[in-house]
Amino acid sequence: MADKVTAPQIRAMKASGDKIVCLTAYDAYFGALADRAGVDLILVGDSLANVVLGYETTVPVTLQEMVHHVRATRRGVKRALLVADMPFGSYNSSVGQAVDSAVELMKAGAEAVKLEGDYPDAIEAIVKAGIPLMGHIGMTPQSVNNFGGFKVQGRGSAAETVLETAKNIADAGAFSIVVELTPADLAKQISQAISIPTIGIGAGQGCDGQIQVLHDILGFADQTFKHAKRFGEGQALALSAIKDYACEVRAESFPTDENSF
Ligand code: KIV
Repeated sequence: MADKVTAPQIRAMKASGDKIVCLTAYDAYFGALADRAGVDLILVGDSLANVVLGYETTVPVTLQEMVHHVRATRRGVKRALLVADMPFGSYNSSVGQAVDSAVELMKAGAEAVKLEGDYPDAIEAIVKAGIPLMGHIGMTPQSVNNFGGFKVQGRGSAAETVLETAKNIADAGAFSIVVELTPADLAKQISQAISIPTIGIGAGQGCDGQIQVLHDILGFADQTFKHAKRFGEGQALALSAIKDYACEVRAESFPTDENSF
């Protein structure tokens, strides 16, 4: 896919069988890098909260903080579809609040928005307003306090509820759904039951695409999560470069004549 990616194109990839490659980014630099690598969809995730802003969970991040990072990422992303996460509290009160928040994220440069959970009325209204919407089911991190931790969702009899939520979201007009931390069998069943693409994270191979947190795959995270893979050792690389810089400054071996004017 060489041209600008659109929400209808992402949706159509389910039928073509092409796996949809999605990644988070939070600023212009890494957005541009992911774009240059040919990722199909870039999400300015509310994981901004814990990955970049130093919060414990995604709960505290505000709409204005999201808007700031959507604007920045927009400046770097040219080809991939740019999706903005709707943060906790920006869509939960009313349909009107949900549409207003989605509009604000679109004005900041997003081309679609994502929200967590079973909000079919809000989804319908957002889509009616002309905004492509991505759903998010399974382990929805904004509900971490309800779940009592970051735990796999949809095991045993809970599978039916997750499947029903997926159907509600698809029926409400979403163009795709993130399926996070669910048993692989359930994610596969959902993928077969709905007509829009499923984008898995910790949900196995049966999904139509995959999404990961950029800092996890680059190896910038302190820990390695079961649902992720370190495709590079970014933290070790950065730490070693910064230590080398500090050593050379202290030893007066940097800057040299070469770095001077
Ligand atoms: O905020 C986020 O990063 C996400 C995904 C990784 C799905 O919602």
